[in-house]
Amino acid sequence: MDIRRVTHEDVDEIVAFTEGTFEWGDYVPDMISSWVDDRDSLVVVADNGSEIAGVGRVMLMSPSEAWSHAVRVHPDHRGHGIAGDLLDTMTAWCFKRGVSIIRLLIDDTNKASKRHVTKTGFRLVATPMHASREIGGTTPNPDGNGGRRTSDVVPARRVKSADAAMLAAAWPSSECGRAMRTLVATGWQFARLTDEVAEEAARSGGLWEIGSSWAVTTLNDATFDVALLDSDPADALGAIRALIDLAKTEQAERFGMWIADIEWLTQAAALAGCDL
Ligand SMILES: CC(C)(COP(=O)(O)OP(=O)(O)OC[C@H]1O[C@@H](n2cnc3c(N)ncnc32)[C@H](O)[C@@H]1OP(=O)(O)O)[C@@H](O)C(=O)NCCC(=O)NCCS
Repeated sequence: MDIRRVTHEDVDEIVAFTEGTFEWGDYVPDMISSWVDDRDSLVVVADNGSEIAGVGRVMLMSPSEAWSHAVRVHPDHRGHGIAGDLLDTMTAWCFKRGVSIIRLLIDDTNKASKRHVTKTGFRLVATPMHASREIGGTTPNPDGNGGRRTSDVVPARRVKSADAAMLAAAWPSSECGRAMRTLVATGWQFARLTDEVAEEAARSGGLWEIGSSWAVTTLNDATFDVALLDSDPADALGAIRALIDLAKTEQAERFGMWIADIEWLTQAAALAGCDL
């Protein structure tokens, strides 16, 4: 099996075997063409001489961190360690560039993937939870739909770049930051929260203080994304409601939020009408 860099000629074959990867489909068919010439990432394929048996991508997140994703093995070729071979080549490419940490995210229910990454030497460091809800219309939720509003919801206040480093410094030692291993989301990828990342969030207007809580947010199309939320048991529900209010102000249609897997925090998200 030849593990080599992807070419434009491989694209149709990759699309054909990835279209129905998951029940919801897959993002690989839409993205693969745009990845081929990107020099800050590596897409490798497993070529058995007659067909493409697997594909995977790793991208640089910072000088020391990389993110691996989009590993897909053709359904006819699973169970032969091909994903491990892809990951070995991606790992060697990263180490050559001075990267010391490769991270990836897998769904807790994906048994084959969990087995594959465990065999390849990865270990579980954090369990981020994704909470989401629609904004605006009536969205029934068994745990409540935002609950009864109290009049003393603390509004979110934009943080200036000058104060960003102070918040970034608090993240590694807070309960939420420890549970998240100091990571912050960029869409569905995670990297360490550095002063630079926090300052950039502030510059683009996405760093917020809500009472004693604080958050990093982005608006992507019609989705308001919370990439980081630092809070405490007393303030979590109010902070999440304030963030949902912000999403409404920004005229977002959906609200998505990455939070640490801490009971009081996931409960607050459910009370604010989010599905987890
Ligand atoms: C997850 C995936 C990439 C693993 O690739 P792989 O090359 O089959 O990996 P491995 O050969 O190391 O097998 C891993 C585990 O899959 C399971 N497995 C074995 N044969 C399998 C088959 N025919 N079909 C599905 N899973 C199988 C086994 O539990 C195996 O562990 P074992 O070797 O200890 O028995 C592949 O199953 C896949 O493409 N799945 C769909 C896409 C996906 O979930 N990608 C990862 C998202 S983060």
